[in-house]
Amino acid sequence: FDLTNRESYRPVYHHTPPYGWMNDPNGMFYKDGVYHLYYQFNPYGSTWGNMHWGHSTSTDLVSWKHEDIALSPDAWGSIFSGSCVVDHDNTAGFGAGAVIAIYTSAKPTPWGDCQTQSLAYSLDNGYTFTKYAHNPVLTSTERDFRDPKVFWYAPDKHWVMLLAVGQEMEIHTSADLKEWKKESTFGAKQGAHGGVWECPDLVELPVEGTGRKRWVLICNLNPGGPFGGSAAQYFVGSFDGKTFVNESPAVTKWLDWGKDNYATVTWSNAPQERCIALGWMSNWQYQAILPTKQYRGENTIARDLTLYDQGGELYLKSSPSPEIKMIRKEKVSMPSFNVSDTYEIAELLKDNSGTYELEMTIKNISAGKVKFCLSNEKGNKVDMYYDMKRKLFVMDRSLSGKVDFSKEFPAVTVVPIAETKEMQIRLFVDKSSIEAFGEEGKFVMTNLVFPDAPYNRISFQSEDGSYKVSSLKLYKLTL
Ligand code: FRU
Repeated sequence: FDLTNRESYRPVYHHTPPYGWMNDPNGMFYKDGVYHLYYQFNPYGSTWGNMHWGHSTSTDLVSWKHEDIALSPDAWGSIFSGSCVVDHDNTAGFGAGAVIAIYTSAKPTPWGDCQTQSLAYSLDNGYTFTKYAHNPVLTSTERDFRDPKVFWYAPDKHWVMLLAVGQEMEIHTSADLKEWKKESTFGAKQGAHGGVWECPDLVELPVEGTGRKRWVLICNLNPGGPFGGSAAQYFVGSFDGKTFVNESPAVTKWLDWGKDNYATVTWSNAPQERCIALGWMSNWQYQAILPTKQYRGENTIARDLTLYDQGGELYLKSSPSPEIKMIRKEKVSMPSFNVSDTYEIAELLKDNSGTYELEMTIKNISAGKVKFCLSNEKGNKVDMYYDMKRKLFVMDRSLSGKVDFSKEFPAVTVVPIAETKEMQIRLFVDKSSIEAFGEEGKFVMTNLVFPDAPYNRISFQSEDGSYKVSSLKLYKLTL
């Protein structure tokens, strides 16, 4: 994969496939210092089809190495999304420490799509896989029956499989990954149902500042997201090894408040009990017509998940995984300034190639709106603002650059924020994306952008009052 990059929108610190089409991240696991990432991959075209598992590895979650294709279609069909586990105790009999992929085999038939669950095992830490001879291991007559996420439930010494089935999740258990028993179904009358449920995950997370832990069920759905198309919702509750119970059925919770974070799942076997998530940075509404040429599809930066309490309700916090700080180069610290009307910074960075982090703290707010706008000399801009009265953070990409390839693309995305006296935000800008993390991840908003030149200016505005930017730091991000 020695590639010459001829694609100006190819991100620098986000994962992309070498060529072809990519959707969901699959089968992520960590072992012996290496993070493995597989992905839905069409090596033969720039649109969806011929699904394989492409493969990449990283030791820092930021720079990715392309590996050979890990799984290719077979008699049971093409290879849809799924997960990997490390079988430390040799429960499946493929060997202690074997890496086992559990994925959906999808085969079109004259009477509809046939989706079944299959296994493949690797005895070389995930670089090459052998398909299990007695696939598939789980079948159904349901049409949408896919995306197995498997993990070990230590208290009961069994494996748990979450499966997306229509607009519900099924929970199955197994002692050996080969024979599965259905235990429960989750989802009727819970959360958003604007589309089919896909790519589930179930993780136990600490609640910040307490000794408590709760379970979080991640549920991707398409369409039905808050701004149209695909998005990820989650439920917080309890899990006893067989059944998940949502503790606040009245509230719909979104994992990301932009348009471009889908199919989010987490790394299995992650070090130091971390829960690290990655999403496909796109939306099914327009992924097939994005204005990239050399490849299609990119992933978000890695995020560490925890829970925090806000007014008695538990929410996910998605913090940028700390490894990203290792690629900070050329720190620029601006002196603090007040904004009572407008304030311009005409040049953010010298030789700005469009890959940077902007970190900012805003205080002494009497303004009704705290506005800032990233722009370039081509007239492209991304407006962002905090609406202090309505308690919202807003990002508008409708004039961000190339937007007219899809009528669904020029969007305004909005997230509710907590009552606060001061705001902290980190913006991660790469060649074709902006990810905004408020309060170290209490909210996150991920949006693709296709500017005609790097955004290298920022202008501030206040409405009905003033505010102070007490800290503004810029870091060039390069590998
Ligand atoms: C989600 C999804 C999965 C499926 C895969 C197929 O984006 O539709 O449900 O396994 O993509 O590529």
